[in-house]
Amino acid sequence: MAVRKKTRYVCNSCGYASVKWLGKCPECNSWNSFSEEIEPVLDQGFERRTGDTNPINILDIEMDNETRFTTSIPELDLVLGGGLVVGSLVLVGGDPGIGKSTLLLQAASQMSENGKKILYVSGEESAKQIKLRSSRLGVTSKNIFLSSENNMDFVLKFIDDVKPDVLIIDSIQTMFCSEITSAPGTVSQVREATMKIMTKAKTSGTCAFIVGHVTKSGSIAGPKVLEHMVDTVLYFEGGSNNIFRMIRSVKNRFGSTNEVGVFEMTGKGLKEIKNPSSIFIADLPQKSSGSVITPLMEGSRPMLVEIQSLVSETNFTTPRRTTVGVDYNKTTMLLAVLEKKVGMPVNFSDCYVNVVGGIIASEPSADLAIISAIASSHKNIIVAQDYIIFGEVGLTGEVRGISHCQNRINEAVRLGFRKFIIPKKNLEGLEIKDKVKVFGVETVEDAFSIIFQ
Ligand code: TYD
Ligand code: MG
Repeated sequence: MAVRKKTRYVCNSCGYASVKWLGKCPECNSWNSFSEEIEPVLDQGFERRTGDTNPINILDIEMDNETRFTTSIPELDLVLGGGLVVGSLVLVGGDPGIGKSTLLLQAASQMSENGKKILYVSGEESAKQIKLRSSRLGVTSKNIFLSSENNMDFVLKFIDDVKPDVLIIDSIQTMFCSEITSAPGTVSQVREATMKIMTKAKTSGTCAFIVGHVTKSGSIAGPKVLEHMVDTVLYFEGGSNNIFRMIRSVKNRFGSTNEVGVFEMTGKGLKEIKNPSSIFIADLPQKSSGSVITPLMEGSRPMLVEIQSLVSETNFTTPRRTTVGVDYNKTTMLLAVLEKKVGMPVNFSDCYVNVVGGIIASEPSADLAIISAIASSHKNIIVAQDYIIFGEVGLTGEVRGISHCQNRINEAVRLGFRKFIIPKKNLEGLEIKDKVKVFGVETVEDAFSIIFQ
């Protein structure tokens, strides 16, 4: 009698497995995400990475000197933690059309100019389409090999044949392993394909970039498991109608996270923006109330942004509060501080707050700038444009110290700003250059007495 193969139902977005089909996943709450697959035999896919995995004394492990190499795109190197580590797996996620394929092709081009061999496997585009794109980007190197294969068995064979230094898989959701019955893009397929690439990368020293699609909710489609398996996770952000693209590292086994690289999409591919601050504050409105400039830290790098606010009398019983790029609850809290601690009657005013350039100002250091922008609009008094304001605001109206004060000031000084309003706590040990004026404040009222004197 033939043995019946056991099947199970697996959620395509988080990998939750159940014996019955379910309409809604109890783990990640997504609807209609279950598909049937044959239950895998336990040892499948868990081959030994190398022949020798016996424990070794940590002091006896030898390090190779050249374990990192540059992608020749400094912004990409920055988010990777200083270059690509040999044998590492990098997952690149982002909305469709944001420029993942473009960036990787550009990186491939640069790396191949430096003598690296690249294998670009695209399950989404034909080799001709990639060629078309590469001629648009001006790629001329001989060291890039293209394939539009979907079957992982062949891809692994190609890796053995070509022996690339860098492998690019675009995208993991289009790859499939023939021994797994479910459709490409399902959790088990994606997990298995990634596992195979990982094994190959670790044993052969090939670096692999894996493109992963992003779901509507913003996480990498399919499995979170993918994020656990790879060494580095990079997210490409920025609305497709916004020409600025930011690449952010959210996990990095070889460097710090939260580093951000900024690019601009041009007719000839992605162009790096070496000086993001100057772009985000490039078109400051001339003499208008409700606008304040503040430095935010993006990873290790300070970036100046403009915070705008508009306050007007409300026509409704409940005033309207709308925020873009700033936390809504934070804004209502700051409004309450204004009302109660500073004595500014904003309770019956509509209030809008916006961070220019699609940036998200989630740091507490932006509090003082937000509250100043609101007050400036409410009083209809302009905040002088050479002021840089930052500090955390507490519920009693006190201004608290923040981190990276010196970095923030240095960046602003470099861009020509000379007046600073900062938390008094941060004055300690601060190096202040000639002609730079720094005011340390303890309360929001102190700050306002300088800004609106
Ligand atoms: P693409 O890299 O195909 O995005 P993804 O792989 O993330 O889906 O990005 C493409 C978008 O960028 C597409 O809408 C066209 C545009 N683009 C340019 O504006 N200039 C260029 O030089 C290239 C190659 C693409
Ligand atoms: Mg693509």
